[in-house]
Amino acid sequence: MRVLITGGCGYIGTHAAVELVAAGHDVVLLDDLGNSRREAAERVAAIAGASVPLEVGDCADRGVLEGVFGRWRFDAVMHFAGLKSVGESVREPLRYYRNNVDGLLSVCEAMAAHGVRRLVFSSSATVYGDPDRVPVDESAPLRATNPYGGTKLVGERVLRDLAAADPGWRIGVLRYFNPIGAHESGLIGEDPEGVPSNLFPFIAQVAAGARDRLLVFGDDYDTPDGTGVRDYLHVVDLALGHVAALEHLDAAEGLSVFNLGTGTGTSVLEAVAAFERASGRRVPYEVAPRRPGDIAVCFADPGRANRELGWSARRTVDDACADAWRWQTKNPRGYVG
Ligand code: WQD
Repeated sequence: MRVLITGGCGYIGTHAAVELVAAGHDVVLLDDLGNSRREAAERVAAIAGASVPLEVGDCADRGVLEGVFGRWRFDAVMHFAGLKSVGESVREPLRYYRNNVDGLLSVCEAMAAHGVRRLVFSSSATVYGDPDRVPVDESAPLRATNPYGGTKLVGERVLRDLAAADPGWRIGVLRYFNPIGAHESGLIGEDPEGVPSNLFPFIAQVAAGARDRLLVFGDDYDTPDGTGVRDYLHVVDLALGHVAALEHLDAAEGLSVFNLGTGTGTSVLEAVAAFERASGRRVPYEVAPRRPGDIAVCFADPGRANRELGWSARRTVDDACADAWRWQTKNPRGYVG
């Protein structure tokens, strides 16, 4: 299939592009380069050993989409484009709803206009808010606790209504837990703007000496070592989950939802120890107050994806630390370097 990847120069989009090509699909990347670099597309092509066209533009702009859909005939779309910082979304909710919801609406309208009705949508475990119990399965209550999660909830509702209105649509909604790591080549990886808000890129920068220490946001949670527990999923396993979901679309009617996670929780201090093992570097840390909005524990029940997609995470947190360290040391300034 030929697949349009919106946000294709981003962290997840690049890794998905590599695995789609490896699985025999053709890809076209669409990215506004607002939070990513053109270099990422060139690295994807280098890894894939194939042409990876890049269209530069805003996926919320219908004129841009008409041009892209006029130049290429797509069989499916993977929609990654969007703003994704929880903290920033709390400060700028209107910008987040405008960007994330408008982008999805515009992409779906362009798809419908051009007879393309296979879609894989990048959602997030954030839609579960603070789950009543773990592991979290797809039937858990949806109650986002921040505007970023709210945009994902709205997006999922739009798609559910679209699939109900037109049974010709085949939609996979993928709720990611915490993506980490990088492709084993060290050519693509996570390249956050400014100070990383997520744990793993921050740890990597401390290990590299780019930051002096990690602040551990709270060690008084009801967890084995008192620090927050999450489901850290290797980004290559996440990308392979997208390929599996795409290839499953025709097997299921309408819209399907899948949690993509390992099913295992890892604490902040366990993550620090894993990164120290992988890098051979110390990661100094200091315990700080809890971060507002953080929850204690969240990890997936990936049983539905295991059963229906034949997908499960194969890589460990240690694998992800080794791959992230290789990306960090080969690209100390990310793609700019
Ligand atoms: C993980 C743990 C922190 C940074 C968010 C979004 C989610 C997804 C991934 C987009 C927590 C602790 C962190 C630090 C720390 N993004 N931490 N010091 O908050 O689970 O999930 O990012 O899809 O939707 O909600 O990820 O990496 O920010 O935090 O102690 O400097 O690390 O308290 O326990 P989070 P995170």
